[in-house]
Amino acid sequence: MAGKILVTGGTGYIGSHTVVELIEQGFETVIVDDLSNSSVDVLDNIEKITGVRPAFEQFNISDTIKTEACFQKYADISAIVHFAAFKAVGESVQKPLEYYHNNLVSLLNLLNCQLKYKVDNIVFSSSCTVYGQPDVLPVTESTPRKDAESPYGNTKRVSEDILSDTIKAHPQIKGIALRYFNPIGAHPSALIGELPLGVPQNLVPFITQSAAGVRGPLSVFGNDYNTPDGSAIRDYINVVDLAKAHVIAIERLLDNKHKNNFEIFNLGTGNGLSVLEIVNAFIKSTGVNFNYKIVDRRAGDVEKIWADTTFANNELGWKAETSIEDTLISAWEWEKRMRGLS
Ligand code: NAD
Ligand code: WQD
Repeated sequence: MAGKILVTGGTGYIGSHTVVELIEQGFETVIVDDLSNSSVDVLDNIEKITGVRPAFEQFNISDTIKTEACFQKYADISAIVHFAAFKAVGESVQKPLEYYHNNLVSLLNLLNCQLKYKVDNIVFSSSCTVYGQPDVLPVTESTPRKDAESPYGNTKRVSEDILSDTIKAHPQIKGIALRYFNPIGAHPSALIGELPLGVPQNLVPFITQSAAGVRGPLSVFGNDYNTPDGSAIRDYINVVDLAKAHVIAIERLLDNKHKNNFEIFNLGTGNGLSVLEIVNAFIKSTGVNFNYKIVDRRAGDVEKIWADTTFANNELGWKAETSIEDTLISAWEWEKRMRGLS
């Protein structure tokens, strides 16, 4: 057994895919999730894919006492992957205190327990949101961070600082922050995927629901950006490729291959695609049509961003592998399974 990994938010979208990859690489996993944005059924599907049912604890990590009890119960944890957070950008503007409390107190509780129970390694879910609209593209890890557009974005920026300061003061702790670009798609088994609550705010879940007839036409937010087709550009990264990077990051920490005690990596494909390119790629790769209309820009959206992934490629030996076509097909297969469509 390669070690026991505590995965917070492990029944969520990216967490569940990462648990699968960790198990497949021989790690034992303990999931902590309060199920505020996921379902306990995910455990069954992880078991169907891997043949292994992860240990599961349902509680909120901003609860200090329960978090501490968990570290006492699992005394042999070698590393943490910390996914648990609220992530809806728009909602964070309406409910900033809930976002700051949930996302920051959780991290503080984990770090305090790491010190107390001598769990030295943590991998943290950060986001390309910390770059805002960068002045120079593609963005490297040393591209300056900008003031966050939302309380959600600010929790990621502040979390990175909390990690960095804690690691500086307590060099026994080692951390890797992974800045995800736009994770999309689902496991090729279609057994796990993204479960948006209500109307999806993100592009690909809206497209698959629209194609499934659950939603009306996609609103394309803006066609007057300074981009080749006028729609905004993002770096869409396959969720399984993304999950694999977490296993590599854990191994890097456990094998002492890290070069600094706190490291940051961009996780994207390195290619920017516009909204209209995604629309067309979806129709072409799945053969399923859906309607869209051009509407005004969405407040707070950046025009274009994509990653320079050289650092992750060279240092982690990691590269996004799945094509956008296969990724969009996986998203569609997942949507169909959710809706009982053939
Ligand atoms: P998700 O909502 O699917 O998963 C997060 C999980 O954490 C959920 O299962 C939720 O129930 C749980 N959770 C939330 N707060 C908790 C708490 N205090 N205690 C216990 N459980 C809690 O989200 P995701 O898309 O899988 O995102 C995972 C992480 O990656 C988050 O930190 C998110 O901010 C970050 N991230 C996501 C994206 C994206 O586009 N999905 C992009 C960049 C960064
Ligand atoms: C992608 C593109 C939209 C929906 C968000 C968070 C970010 C990070 C990733 C966590 C944009 C356009 C979308 C729709 C559209 N998450 N769009 N019609 O905004 O790049 O990033 O998720 O850290 O912090 O902000 O992702 O999927 O919402 O949008 O035209 O119905 O699709 O304008 O250009 P975004 P998204």
